[in-house]
Amino acid sequence: MFFGRVEEIDDTPSADHAEGEVIGDGVRIRRRQVLRFSAAAGAVALLARTGETREPPKVADPFAPLTFEKVVEQLRPLAGVLLTLDQPNEEAYLHTVAALLHRVQPIPASSGKSSRPMKMSALARHRPLVVYEIDLKPGAKIRLHDHHDYNGVIYGVEGAVEVRNFDIVTPQKKGRSPDRDKEFDIRETTRGLVTAGRVSSLSRRRENLHEVVAGKDGARLIDVFTFFSKEARSRYLEFDDKPHGKDKRLYRAAYKR
Ligand SMILES: [Fe+2]
Repeated sequence: MFFGRVEEIDDTPSADHAEGEVIGDGVRIRRRQVLRFSAAAGAVALLARTGETREPPKVADPFAPLTFEKVVEQLRPLAGVLLTLDQPNEEAYLHTVAALLHRVQPIPASSGKSSRPMKMSALARHRPLVVYEIDLKPGAKIRLHDHHDYNGVIYGVEGAVEVRNFDIVTPQKKGRSPDRDKEFDIRETTRGLVTAGRVSSLSRRRENLHEVVAGKDGARLIDVFTFFSKEARSRYLEFDDKPHGKDKRLYRAAYKR
């Protein structure tokens, strides 16, 4: 950690915590971490602070808005390559998906109203990549479900949803889910709000289960799915929403018929 001013950083490289220092209950610094800004970044920060103006550098904005179609165009080959890799880095892929979703302008228009609690409309279908718009009425709940052999990124457009993610704790054979009607433990890993401009993601191995509940104003989301096989699909789970045992995040769950 560094608590000084930005321009002090280069002058005081040892101003953060020292090796071996205890900074809290049981928290010991193992390796000194020093934030170093490049001279250029420091200069930019200084200019911004002092209000000085100079000719901005002539570089393309790498974060500029992109149409939805352009974003899909960029994602399709990435999704295709992902499926060919023996050990695909899904986390890097999901971050890339999220970063591109942040650039979509304009957000695709909603495809009409529905009286149903949840409406899913396909915005793009290019397997293995499929993009949906999801409209949720106030309080609508997408019950706990898995994402067998596929991953996803939710991007908030309007309103809010509370998203709870879980991992299956009980050891499974690789790529297999627990048998139907057999109870097993799941652990809640995250619980947070997805509002406009925020994301929630899950991979095949990380937080593959989630429950989504819309807030009082409902929600509109964009959901990007990447399917790894023809068997990829979701199934609902039943779970007792009371934690058990010493671990306050453990719940009992089962796949039901
Ligand atoms: Fe889901």
